[in-house]
Amino acid sequence: MIKTTAEVRQAFLDFFATKQHQIVKSSSLVPGNDATLLFTNAGMVPFKDVFLGAETRSYTRATSAQRCVRGGKHNDLENVGYTARHHTFFEMLGNFSFGDYFKENAISYAWEFLTSVLGLPKEKLLVTIYESDEEAFLYWKDEIGIPVEKIIRIGDKSADKKFESDNFWSMGDTGPCGPCSEIFYDHGEHIWGGPPGSPEEDGDRFIEIWNIVFMQFNRQANGDMEPLPNPSIDTGMGLERISAIMQNVHSNYEIDLFQALIKDTANLLDCNDLNNKSLRVISDHIRSCCFLIVDGVVPSNEGRGYVLRRIIRRAIRHGHKLEAKDNFFHKLVKSLIEQMGDAYPELVQQQAIIEKLLRIEEEQFGRTLDRGMVLLEEILNNLEGDTICGDDVFKLYDTYGFPEI
Ligand code: ALA
Repeated sequence: MIKTTAEVRQAFLDFFATKQHQIVKSSSLVPGNDATLLFTNAGMVPFKDVFLGAETRSYTRATSAQRCVRGGKHNDLENVGYTARHHTFFEMLGNFSFGDYFKENAISYAWEFLTSVLGLPKEKLLVTIYESDEEAFLYWKDEIGIPVEKIIRIGDKSADKKFESDNFWSMGDTGPCGPCSEIFYDHGEHIWGGPPGSPEEDGDRFIEIWNIVFMQFNRQANGDMEPLPNPSIDTGMGLERISAIMQNVHSNYEIDLFQALIKDTANLLDCNDLNNKSLRVISDHIRSCCFLIVDGVVPSNEGRGYVLRRIIRRAIRHGHKLEAKDNFFHKLVKSLIEQMGDAYPELVQQQAIIEKLLRIEEEQFGRTLDRGMVLLEEILNNLEGDTICGDDVFKLYDTYGFPEI
């Protein structure tokens, strides 16, 4: 019986190993081959040059559980902890073909893994395809046997935005891309939402679990689609989402891994309400912070280091909301290692340095906040009227790390 997050991760890698895929260790969160990218944000990132034909490996099939960070955008960060599925850090399970197999195998492997290995009921699954992808349509219908009403075609967002579609995946403005087919899981009528492409698609009922990209082009800066040397496959399935399904829960924060982190945080901070959103925020953030440090990022005022600093500070602020009496964040490294140390031995190896960096950052942030309080008092004493001016507010936020409202 596959249930825990660790079991799902292992089952995925093992399954693709039986299909002659090389198991490739997760790469760093800091992309080694792409200066345009802040963080590794998908399983295919370490393989970008292989897709483009600029690099060859000793294998043409690979599988990985890749650590990913998507924390660069301001609004995304503010959502984390308050929704069922936003994270700063997540793991993407993927299988890749570099000019080896293409659509048919990719679809049948995904289907076999979901329905035979994980045992998901077929009637709970539906799929989307790129509007004009007849080949994928026929394969889902005739070979896999999905009823046509459960194969949803998704086109471009508008006539003048060719290839801008939920079913056309691109790495970025340039680079490997292609049409894709996504598999959705129906969490059931008791949850609001409609199937993909419907007006209610943003609801939580139908959740995308697996994206299968048929990599065919290298998008050029001028928008031209240059065919790749070989049609290839890139897939991505969020480990936390699929684990939630296996554990019969709806929110990612309810899976075993997060529940353990949430309980440890609650114990540390003497918090009795395990549903408190700040516990979710902290348990999400300890993951990205530890892994970013493992990959050599240190808190600073620019670039990657700034993203890390903002995430650490957000975690600390949420600790304060829970009335943390002391520096607490670095004490959670141990809990994370209990959950993820087996899969990522580098966490264990670097435990001391991660704890130290986080502790120093906490102490420094505490002092910065204290200095900010002095400034705030000064501002308030000299205030004419009842509004603090924008420049001062920005200074308190940017320099002294005061929380956003
Ligand atoms: N690269 C694809 C994604 O991130 C699989 O969705």
